[in-house]
Amino acid sequence: MNRLLIVSNRLPISITKQKGEYSFQRSAGGLATGVGSFYKSYESLWIGWPGVNVRKNNQKEKDEICEALSAEQCHPVFLSPYDIRNYYDGFCNNTIWPLFHYFNHFAEYDKHHWNVYKKVNESFCEAVLEVARPDDTIWVHDYHLMLLPQMLREELPDAAIGFFLHIPFPSYEIFRLLPWRKEILEGLLGSDLVGFHTYDYLRHFLSSIRRILGYEHTLGDVTVGNRTVRVDMFPMGIDYQQFAEAAESPAVQEEIQKAREQYGDRTIVLSFDRLDYTKGIPLRLEAFDTLLEKKPEYQGNVSLILVAVPSRTAIEQYQALKQQIDELVGRINGKYGTTEWLPVRYFYNYLPFEVLVANYKLADVALVTPLRDGMNLMAKEFVATKTEGKGVLILSEMAGAAPELGEAVIVNPSDRDAVMDAIETAMAMSEEEQSERNRIMQKRLQRYDITHWAADFINRLDDARLLQEKRS
Ligand code: G6P
Repeated sequence: MNRLLIVSNRLPISITKQKGEYSFQRSAGGLATGVGSFYKSYESLWIGWPGVNVRKNNQKEKDEICEALSAEQCHPVFLSPYDIRNYYDGFCNNTIWPLFHYFNHFAEYDKHHWNVYKKVNESFCEAVLEVARPDDTIWVHDYHLMLLPQMLREELPDAAIGFFLHIPFPSYEIFRLLPWRKEILEGLLGSDLVGFHTYDYLRHFLSSIRRILGYEHTLGDVTVGNRTVRVDMFPMGIDYQQFAEAAESPAVQEEIQKAREQYGDRTIVLSFDRLDYTKGIPLRLEAFDTLLEKKPEYQGNVSLILVAVPSRTAIEQYQALKQQIDELVGRINGKYGTTEWLPVRYFYNYLPFEVLVANYKLADVALVTPLRDGMNLMAKEFVATKTEGKGVLILSEMAGAAPELGEAVIVNPSDRDAVMDAIETAMAMSEEEQSERNRIMQKRLQRYDITHWAADFINRLDDARLLQEKRS
């Protein structure tokens, strides 16, 4: 197997600097968690942004970070505050992120942001070229780097280049709104293999390249000049074993014990996400509020643990959402709370791994109701920790994970009554049925875990490359 170069905006390790001291933290989000769990099993190097701001001419600090990260098979690309404002906050998270998640009313189309997006993709290209060896397999990830495959193709015409999108690819009717739609598609088509989580995203992509660029496909193979680009779906899995084993570990048992002392034998509903408007957190809180209002018998008997991991805090929509959630939680707790019982336990924080697993394991119900979500690995992680069988997953039909997790209680996240009913259904479900549903999902998740997912993508990329060599 050739060396694997993974390229993504964010490295799996984020660095923060406080009072002159660095601290290293696992990065949040599906990409970092998923890819972060297997890349070390390959001869690999991960190229990306370490999340910390270093002054342009502070070479000493850059060298120190570079050295610390190389022990983790990572290589940093430094972004300036200007890049972060225009590329990361601007084009990535104020244009592509909302648009691809069907929040087109939030999307801004700013030419300057687009130009900086191009420039940063070029910087990533230079960073790859600095470290690339002739036989490396290059795997580019996610919406921050959609121009990179074509930039690399121009420099390394014979390289094996794969691209995987971790967020939805929207319907053509949404995608066509983007002023730079053509350039984005051409950028992606520099790859030998373009992968998506679901069949729908793949279908939308194929339809967009046909309608915008005029390319037809044969069973997902697209002819671009003298090359064939393969388009396929790879629903991302989790490190199943890691979650199932952690659920049984003494550290997690200890955390569960501590939590049980606080919650007693109340039913626990868990909501756990990055704080993002695509996750549908306010609607979820409103459904919980309606449940307590319409069915007062639940008051005092059920607690909602709401964990929101801080994310993209410089962006206005995220700040407004934080405020909205703070207010909603305050309103619900003020309305129903008693000296013995707080309906919503709210944590605006990053959770260490053991605490996260303890929360999954402890929860009777997981309420995973995003308005749109590329995949949602938390839903899968929750199921994996249910080693004793009990626990109900309520899952939005708008999550990429839904087609794979049909035994969950599937809901339309915008339908407040349906979400409320789903919580009731979950709480009333017999333990036997819970175990049966989880058992089926667990088998599936175990079979197509993250290792299989990665191997599957890399094998398909190798095939695509061989086909290419035969043709030329
Ligand atoms: C999603 C994206 C990832 C991203 C993560 C966290 O899962 O697909 O690419 O890293 O969110 O967002 P952030 O902006 O903090 O990297």
